[in-house]
Amino acid sequence: MTSLRNRDMHRTKADRPKGKQVKSATLTIGDSSYDLLIHEGTEHETALDISRLRADGGLVTLDPGFANTGACMSAITYIDGERGILRHRGYSIEDLCVKSNFVEVAYLLIYGELPTSDELCEFRQGIGDSALLHDNMQSFFKGYPMQAHPMAVLSAMVCSLSAYHPELLEQDLSESDQREMIVNLLAKVRVIAAFAYRHAVGAAFTYPRKDLDYIGNFLHMMFWHPTDGYEVDPAVHRALDLLFILHADHEQNCSTSTVRMVGSSKANLFAAISSGICALWGPLHGGANQAVIEMLGAIERDGGDFKKYLAKAKDKNDPFRLMGFGHRVYKNYDPRARIIKRACDDLLETLDIDDATLDIAKGLEEAALADSYFVERKLFPNVDFYSGLIYRALGIPSDMFTVMFALGRLPGWIAHWRELVNDPKMRISRPRQIYIGEQHREFISIEDR
Ligand code: SDX
Repeated sequence: MTSLRNRDMHRTKADRPKGKQVKSATLTIGDSSYDLLIHEGTEHETALDISRLRADGGLVTLDPGFANTGACMSAITYIDGERGILRHRGYSIEDLCVKSNFVEVAYLLIYGELPTSDELCEFRQGIGDSALLHDNMQSFFKGYPMQAHPMAVLSAMVCSLSAYHPELLEQDLSESDQREMIVNLLAKVRVIAAFAYRHAVGAAFTYPRKDLDYIGNFLHMMFWHPTDGYEVDPAVHRALDLLFILHADHEQNCSTSTVRMVGSSKANLFAAISSGICALWGPLHGGANQAVIEMLGAIERDGGDFKKYLAKAKDKNDPFRLMGFGHRVYKNYDPRARIIKRACDDLLETLDIDDATLDIAKGLEEAALADSYFVERKLFPNVDFYSGLIYRALGIPSDMFTVMFALGRLPGWIAHWRELVNDPKMRISRPRQIYIGEQHREFISIEDR
């Protein structure tokens, strides 16, 4: 019989690290008992420490998709999926969206505190000064077909940055070298994203201007036209800044866990971020924002009958899923989706855009939220459900949507890489498995097969 008992360990608060009140539990299997530590986070989440279970009892744990497995302790982002709470370094996402801006949130995520005005100015300046790609790198774009998916270009070009910064590939970089690599990435990934778009539409590359900020320069590099020029619309600037804040980090999601996995081998930050970009590309993750728009387009072309698509999503024999719905952690409305939906309404009204797809999205959401299949499984709209409608209103093509997600998520990836590599107890990630293949058998030569 297996049972777990939970006992308080008598340790004083003083000798407990912040956020890790340690208790213990006893796992009893048959005649054997194993003492396991229980860790408690600053928001009172508790975790059973099974790191010694194999050494002491020959047992590993099995948790496909790591649905209930904590890979690390982290101080960057807190999510309460049941209550729909999202905080970065203790600040609520609602507060950050109203009171902050993307570059300031990036600094907060990466360095742990809101910057002073001097720190923010220096951070912005570092990004502005690091924006130019090496001439040779710019020639890489010509090697891609114009219809290449920009996520393929982004991941390859980000990894290629390591070829042009050999000095930043050293192990155990100093704090100043880490900071240099970080501003380089924040500056250059934005340029690579814009250049990938310009190459795809056959437009010449446009370079950042000293008088524009992070968001303004991205829009300028994307949309400046030799004859029409380009003026950054404040409503567009605000909408994009908000979207980037909302995508900035989300604790141990698939792509961030990939960045941590790659970083744990002491591969450089460029390689780790390039891996995160590849993981984000999948339609179950960051690729969902593009898939949502494609789904809404298919519904619109099919006469707008979204109830037919709800039925498909519920049909176990149909592989169709309602893209932009459901979440591994949120079993309540994704707080980001609520903010994006409001921003989408505001932007389309400000830009005087009448997008029939938005009406289909709202009808689909209303029907799903009233449908027992979605209610029982706690499937709510997630961050990807409405974001594509805003990107489209900003004139961004759908195959660039996940690139936009990557630009927003970059500070979060960097923050987690930094938290990992600066941890003196960092170990290479290497999960276990349960083998279910053939037992030992003798080799048979091809003549006898
Ligand atoms: C992001 O992790 C993060 O934080 C990610 C993210 C971030 O900021 O980094 O928030 C960004 O990736 C958001 C998610 C974007 N993906 C999508 O919108 C794709 C559609 N959603 C699903 O594929 C799904 O909901 C996932 C991938 C998001 C979550 O998958 P889980 O946790 O593995 O859930 P599951 O597949 O086990 O589903 C549980 C049940 C199943 O039904 P039953 O077997 O219980 O009968 O819910 C059903 C699923 O069939 N289900 C859906 C559904 N999502 C789950 N049914 C129809 N449509 C859906 N979208």
